[in-house]
Amino acid sequence: MAAAEISRDFSATVAKVEPEARKLIAQYPEGCARSALLPILHAFQNVEGWLSPEAIERAAEWVGVPVSVVESTASFYTLFHRRPVGRYMLQPCRNLSCIINGAGEIMAHLRGRLEVGHNQTTPDGLFSYEEAECLAACDRAPCMQVNLQFYYDLTKEKIDAMLQAMRDGSFEVPPLPQNAVPGPDWHVAPEGAKKSTGAQGVPSPDDPGGLGDASGRKMIERLTADAAPIDARPTHERLIADGAALLGAPSPNGSAH
Ligand code: FES
Repeated sequence: MAAAEISRDFSATVAKVEPEARKLIAQYPEGCARSALLPILHAFQNVEGWLSPEAIERAAEWVGVPVSVVESTASFYTLFHRRPVGRYMLQPCRNLSCIINGAGEIMAHLRGRLEVGHNQTTPDGLFSYEEAECLAACDRAPCMQVNLQFYYDLTKEKIDAMLQAMRDGSFEVPPLPQNAVPGPDWHVAPEGAKKSTGAQGVPSPDDPGGLGDASGRKMIERLTADAAPIDARPTHERLIADGAALLGAPSPNGSAH
C-alpha cells in the first residue's frame, strides 16, 4: 500500500464534524446533550483515525460536560483510540470461548507476522495490535475486529490472506485515516492511573487473565482435562448439531440422535 501523506488540520476536522454533532445534539431534549456524546466521539474518530485531546475538549464543550467525563467515557471503550494508531487496528479476542477455540495460536501467529506485541504499532504505521476482551461473538470463535469490523472462525491461513490484502491495499475494510504519526506503543500511558494495564508487561501474553494471573489458564486446563473431549468443530456448527440432537432430528452430518 502506498504511504499516504500525514498531515493534521484540526479546524478542518471541526468543520466536518460540527454539523453532524449539532444534528445529533438537536435530537435530545434541552439539557440532555450528553446523550449525543458517543456518536460525536465516533464522528471525530472517523475523521482523524483517533480521539485527539482537542477532539475530546471540543466534544465536552459541545455537550456541556467536563473534559474528565469525556475522558472517562472514551477510556472505557476499546472502540476509541486515544493515541494515533495504525491504519489497520487489529483486535483479536483473548477471552474464554475464543481461547478454547484456538485464539492463543491465532494471537501468537499475528504477533509473529507483525513483529509487535499487545498495544503496539508496526514501524511503518500500517498495523496496530490490541488483544481485546470478549467481543460478544463467542459463537464464531476465534474472532477479531479489524477497524471495528468483525471477522470470525479465524485460522492462520485466513489471517495471512487478510494481512496480505491489507498490505497491498485490496482489503475490503478501508484503512483508518491517519493524521498523526503513531508511536511504537499507542496505549495511553498508565502513569497514576488506577485501572488495569491489561497484559502489558506480562511475561507471557498468552495468559488469558493478563497481569501474570494464571487463573484463566488453570481454568482452561481444568476444562480440557475433563472427561468430555473438546469438539474441534467451529462453535456455530456444534450449536446446530446440538440443537438437532435436542429436537431428535438428524444432525447435519446425517447421523440421527
Ligand atoms: S470470548 Fe471471544 S467473542 Fe466472546
